[in-house]
Amino acid sequence: MASRYAEVYAEWRNDPEAFWAKAAEEIDWIKPWDKVFDPEAGGYGRWFTGAECNTCYNCLDRHVERDRPGQPALIYDSPITGRKATYTYEDLLEHVNAMAAILRDFGVEKGDRVIIYMPMIPEAVMAMLACARLGAIHSVVFGGFAARELATRIDDAKPKAIVSASCGIEPGRVVAYKPLLDEAIDLSSHKPSTCLVVQRQEAAASLVAGRDHDLGKLMEEAIAAGREVDCVPVKATDPLYILYTSGTTGQPKGVVRDNGGHMVALKWTMKNHYGVDPGEVFWAASDVGWVVGHSYIVYAPLLHGATTIIFEGKPVGTPDAGVFWRVISEHGVVSLFTAPTAFRAIKKEDPDGKLIGEYDLGSFRSLFLAGERADPDTIRWAEDKLDVPVIDHWWQTETGWAIVGNPLGLGMLPVKPGSPTVPMPGYDVRVLDDAGHPVPVGSLGNVVVKLPLPPGCLPTLWNAEDRFRESYLSEFPGYYKTADAGLMDEDGYLFIMARTDDIINVAGHRLSTGGMEEVLAGHKDVAECAVIGIADALKGQIPCGFVVLKSGVTRSHAEIEKELVGLVREKIGPVAAFKLAITVDRLPKTRSGKILRATMRQIADGEDVRIPATIDDPAILDEIGAALREHGIGG
Ligand code: COA
Ligand code: AMP
Repeated sequence: MASRYAEVYAEWRNDPEAFWAKAAEEIDWIKPWDKVFDPEAGGYGRWFTGAECNTCYNCLDRHVERDRPGQPALIYDSPITGRKATYTYEDLLEHVNAMAAILRDFGVEKGDRVIIYMPMIPEAVMAMLACARLGAIHSVVFGGFAARELATRIDDAKPKAIVSASCGIEPGRVVAYKPLLDEAIDLSSHKPSTCLVVQRQEAAASLVAGRDHDLGKLMEEAIAAGREVDCVPVKATDPLYILYTSGTTGQPKGVVRDNGGHMVALKWTMKNHYGVDPGEVFWAASDVGWVVGHSYIVYAPLLHGATTIIFEGKPVGTPDAGVFWRVISEHGVVSLFTAPTAFRAIKKEDPDGKLIGEYDLGSFRSLFLAGERADPDTIRWAEDKLDVPVIDHWWQTETGWAIVGNPLGLGMLPVKPGSPTVPMPGYDVRVLDDAGHPVPVGSLGNVVVKLPLPPGCLPTLWNAEDRFRESYLSEFPGYYKTADAGLMDEDGYLFIMARTDDIINVAGHRLSTGGMEEVLAGHKDVAECAVIGIADALKGQIPCGFVVLKSGVTRSHAEIEKELVGLVREKIGPVAAFKLAITVDRLPKTRSGKILRATMRQIADGEDVRIPATIDDPAILDEIGAALREHGIGG
């Protein structure tokens, strides 16, 4: 089929407001908008101003009232515990009503914040939707973050309540969440009045009298009593959630998502980008703690009336590299969305894809990859073994949906390996040099999006409007800075090459090296440090920390390095995957004292080293190379 992409993109370009007004017909509004787009509002304008709506109503109630009460909405598949459950739209609504009633009993109302610190269990999705129902603002914190990271988010979001669970389960270990939650509340200045805790069989949490409550028990009672809560009307421009993501410092950025534009954009993507119809099963194998989980485990599939899967497991080891194929065949998944790292893990365990042949993948139509660069080897392996289109697409926590992709629903465009393809309607993507001028076709530069951003993208950062403007809008006036570097070829295909800031991407997880440097610098023996991301065959990148010790420190380097690894795990969390601290005598710097992180990365990755003209002492680069080789890294 010829792709309708060019026609649809042109339709958007001709009249963006008409385009999004038409897409908005797919959403049920309590009150229609005054303006589709108000250029005077917010940092770059706001979408659907004056409209009122409720995201939970659009995800659940309308499907129950109309055509799909008995259709599965949420399938819980947990190979790590051996549990499975299916919730129809009606069941899910019943549970979300119960959860919303409980939250309201503890005083949660429209505009209040609720932090959700949960493993991949159905209650996590229910808590998100219950907040949406009440007009409360959720902030989900990924379970792999440590207490200090959680505390930072508690202090920024100031939640009235926290919803959590006694534990998460990682291969070979039970991660007790409650002690982390207690420690985070001890560390934070803001104290939530209520914690609702799911007691899981694998670990019991001790509850603080007056503050903590057994959520499972409360849910049973609320369901038995048939409790219901009306959907609270909110403005289209009111926040639905805050999702913290790494910035250039240890202080994460609270990306704000609104209600109206978010629904319009996500609903549009399900058919047009992912090619999925209502009633079909869509599976995003991510975590609700990340933006992919927010958009494509929870909101988009449910807005669309599709069935979604919450998968508590790993691509390998739970129990083997065939688990993705088992889930696809057992639940009739039509489309899978995951990070390339998951496929690299599977490819490593089952290079010939033997386990694929053990399952009937008749339902399966497409694989979408995002979260990090999709290396052509992985794409080819997946295409070859699965015999379905493998589609890379590029986006960020900030945008909430794909900036650049290959719109399966509009008719797939030819794939160029290494490119996530072309800008989606809504995004006018440009590549600029550092002075803000367009670079020639095919040249590397800063990837930016001409303002305004489309519906669904962040309107601001929580409580940090200045930081929002400074981080995204001020460097290239009139454009949104993605902080990715890339190039666009003569066919308009974009290639994303690297970040322009100190963010690294580890197993599809976005991490700040600046945040890790803050932790290392806090060790009593460390004089200075630099953290870089180095290439890793499985995770894409892994962090590597170089430290210079204070003079007079006589303890063994190995002992201090071990403490540093432990410190990052303790302060940021296991998700940082920080396993490599290397002591060196000096760090390479420019004459003005700037640490040459990019040059160190080139040495570690065995690339051609471009020695900056401003380097202070080139001999230090040899010392770095030698230190890396001692740790088995670099050539
Ligand atoms: N709670 C507590 N700890 C967690 C956690 C959670 N929710 N998630 C991960 N961790 C821990 C892991 O157990 C691991 O600990 P370890 O150092 O003791 O082994 C550490 O954090 C690093 O985790 P991860 O980077 O996920 O590596 P892994 O070795 O456990 O698994 C992959 C590697 C590739 C299988 C895994 O990263 C994966 O499935 N990735 C999919 C990508 C993805 O979901 N991306 C999200 C965006 S789409
Ligand atoms: P996150 O906000 O965690 O989704 O991370 C966003 C960042 O991940 C982007 O700015 C990119 O650096 C990187 N990224 C995400 N998807 C892709 C992709 N398909 N190709 C290359 N990089 C990607």
